[in-house]
Order: sequence, then C-alpha cells, then structure tokens
Amino acid sequence: MNILVLGSGGREHAFAWKISQSPRCNKLYIAPGNAGTAQLGENVNIKVTDFDTIGSFVKENQVSLVVVGPEDPLVLGIRDYFESDASLKEVLLVGPNAKGAQLEGSKDFSKQFMHRHKIPTARSKTFTINSLEEGMNYVSSHPTPIVLKADGLAAGKGVIISETNAHARETLKEMLVDAKFGEASSRVVVEQFLSGIELSVFVLSDGTDYKILPSAKDYKRIGEKDTGLNTGGMGSVSPVPFADAAFLAKVEERIIKPSINGLKSEGIDYKGFLFIGLMNMGGDPYVIEYNVRMGDPETQSVLSRIDSDLVELLEGCGAGTLNTKNFEVSSKAATTVVMVAGGYPGNYEKGKVIYGIEAVNEAIVFHAGTHHNETGEVITNGGRVLAVTGMGETVEKALENAYNGIEKISWQDEYHRTDIGQDILRLIK
Ligand code: AMP
Ligand code: GLY
Repeated sequence: MNILVLGSGGREHAFAWKISQSPRCNKLYIAPGNAGTAQLGENVNIKVTDFDTIGSFVKENQVSLVVVGPEDPLVLGIRDYFESDASLKEVLLVGPNAKGAQLEGSKDFSKQFMHRHKIPTARSKTFTINSLEEGMNYVSSHPTPIVLKADGLAAGKGVIISETNAHARETLKEMLVDAKFGEASSRVVVEQFLSGIELSVFVLSDGTDYKILPSAKDYKRIGEKDTGLNTGGMGSVSPVPFADAAFLAKVEERIIKPSINGLKSEGIDYKGFLFIGLMNMGGDPYVIEYNVRMGDPETQSVLSRIDSDLVELLEGCGAGTLNTKNFEVSSKAATTVVMVAGGYPGNYEKGKVIYGIEAVNEAIVFHAGTHHNETGEVITNGGRVLAVTGMGETVEKALENAYNGIEKISWQDEYHRTDIGQDILRLIK
C-alpha cells in the first residue's frame, strides 16, 4: 500500500524508517519531511494543516494509510475532514478526530474527562476571566507549589509552576487578563503539584482494543542534570526500570482501560496513539497529561524496540482490527540523544553544514531539523537537528552506542546533553 506520514521531525523520520522496513509498504511519502526522510521515501512539500492539498494528494497517489505525526492537524480535525469526504473516508488514518484530540488540545477538557472517569490525576479547578476573583482567592489559599496551565495548545510553554501564592496570583492574572499565551490562556487550569518520577506510557488504540507500547522517559530541560529552559525534548530512554510489570498493571487497570472505555462511552471513536504522561508517586501512577500523538524524541526509542511489523499495527488501528495483529517488543534497551543548534531553545542559526553522519554505524541517526543545500550537503534547519538512537542489551550499552555515534558528528555550535540516562543507570545500580 502507499503510505503518507505527516510531519517533519525526528519522530516522523523514525516512523518513516520503521514503515519502510515493512513488506506492506509500497510507495512512502512524507509531507513535508526532512533530509533524513528523503532517503526513505519521497518528500512532498505540503503543510500538515493544509487539508485540501493533503486530500487531493492522497486521492491522486492512491494513498491508503495516513499517519499523522504532530498534534496540530488532529486538533484542527484532519480525521473529520477525511470522514466527511466520500472518496477519502475509506483511507485508513492514524489519529483521533477533533473531539478526541481535545484530550491534548484542551487541558480543561482532559481534566474533566479524567474526573468523570475516575482516572487518578492532580486535583484541579478551571478559571476564566469571568471567574477571576474566585481564581485569585483559590490560588491565595492553595498549598504551594501551585501548577497553572493554559487550557489550549501553547507549544509546550503553557505550564507554569509557582513556588509562592503571590507568584501564582500574578501568573493567573497574566494568563487571564494579559493573555500571556493568547487565546490558549483564556481558560486556566489550576492544579495540585505532584511530586515523583515522571515517565510516559504510549498506547495504540483502534477505539476498542489497544496495544501498550514500550514506556519511555524523556529529558525536557536544555541543561545537564535537568536544569535550564524547557525544550521539545533532549533525549529519551526505553525501557524505564521503575515501570515494571506491577506498576504497568496499575497503569493499565486504573488509567488505560478507563481512558479507552471512557472515550468509547462518550461516542469518541479513538483511532490513534494516546501518549500518557505519568507521575509515579510512591508506586502509584497519576496522569499529568494526555497527548494524542507520539512523543518526540520518545518515538525514536520506542519504535526501535518494536519487533513486529509497524504497518500491520497501523492498519489494524485504522481499520479497527488491532486485536488480530501480532505485537512483539524487543528486550533490548534504546536510548536517544538529541543534537541541537547552539542557542536553542532561544535564538539559533540555521544553514550549518553537518559532517560525519555517514560514519555512524553503531547507532541510528534520525533527522529532525535538516535540509539539503544546493550542492546536496546536509545542513541544519531547526533547533533540534538530529536524534541519535543507540540500542543494546542494557541501558548502559545503548547509551554507549548513542554517544559513540554522536562523537562522529559535528557542525558549528552543535550542543547535546552528556547526561541522558544517567539517572536511570543510578536507579538500576
Ligand atoms: P504538560 O504540558 O502538562 O506536560 O506539563 C509540562 C511539565 O510540567 C510536565 O512534564 C511536568 O514536568 C510538569 N507538570 C505538569 N503538571 C504537573 C503537576 N500537577 N505536578 C508536577 N509537575 C507537573
Ligand atoms: N517529548 C515530549 C513531547 O513530544 O511532547
């Protein structure tokens, strides 16, 4: 079958890499893709939110499976668009409809959903400009730290953790009155701070059945030892040692089953990935957030550990036949280290020539922000540039492979964290 992957990051290169290994894949298209995906299929210059052009392309090229990488097209209703078009509705699409995507698109929706279905999460209350005074009183007497979240999509920046009640009051005012995050903060969720160890669990669902994919931990901060500004993600490790069988059994019973059943009972036919950000508090899982897509750079580590044919699984997701599909996970560990442009997540330059990728044989180099220049060289074209994934019998060996690969790659002002996975190694020892 012909397959289209939407997106242009390391996550989408990892999807393209895994999909291209399947005998079920005939032509592979990536829109818009990057220099890495261009080696595996054909990059097509279409924006992921340009549904008309995507729809025409799918029809003209007999695409029968569409995999949506990022959240924007899902929140904007790409599934609804396909379902409302007589000649697109038979196309299998991996990703929920706009209603289901509200689990990520609206923190208020997702909190209400969790409260309705008794899914463990932080206590919370939502405020708007009309309930400003009530909100101010609420944060004044709330135990600290206090978590304030813009309701809508805010490119990963919409969560603020206040250490004092005064700061929380100031932040609530900035969000609701001064529109700190624009329309996204016209509604603010104020919630209890959960302390513990974070991890992510990924589920592929066809609306009724599901497969639990390998769990992973990501490293969000730019600096060593989790310091400095938040980024899209600087590295990932899978598996996570504290996500053992007993903990995952609690996650499945208390979180995954009520989530999938809750969606179904609310008439949401959820076909796609569900990414559950969790806090492990003394052995009990609490949901921090849902995302309606895979994570980046978690995908690079997670897909590397799936031994089954990914296309079969994606088809099962789209067609509602997931329970008939084989699903096997490798016992190996996978670790991903992201190489970024100096200055990221602040200002950074693009267009630097990247050297050494072809010399890497101990790890997989996934491209994120890359491009070809006129002479065919690979150049930097974003903040997160490459994600290097190493595998091994142990997390330690996987890290060694990833970092040995990284040693061979260079460009002017390249930066990466040198401590990815060190916390996990300390836990294992
Ligand atoms: P989110 O955008 O909801 O993933 O939040 C971003 C980050 O803020 C999370 O990955 C957590 O590290 C942190 N965070 C969010 N909510 C809470 C909470 N209730 N307690 C503690 N940390 C939180
Ligand atoms: N790495 C976090 C995310 O993709 O949201």
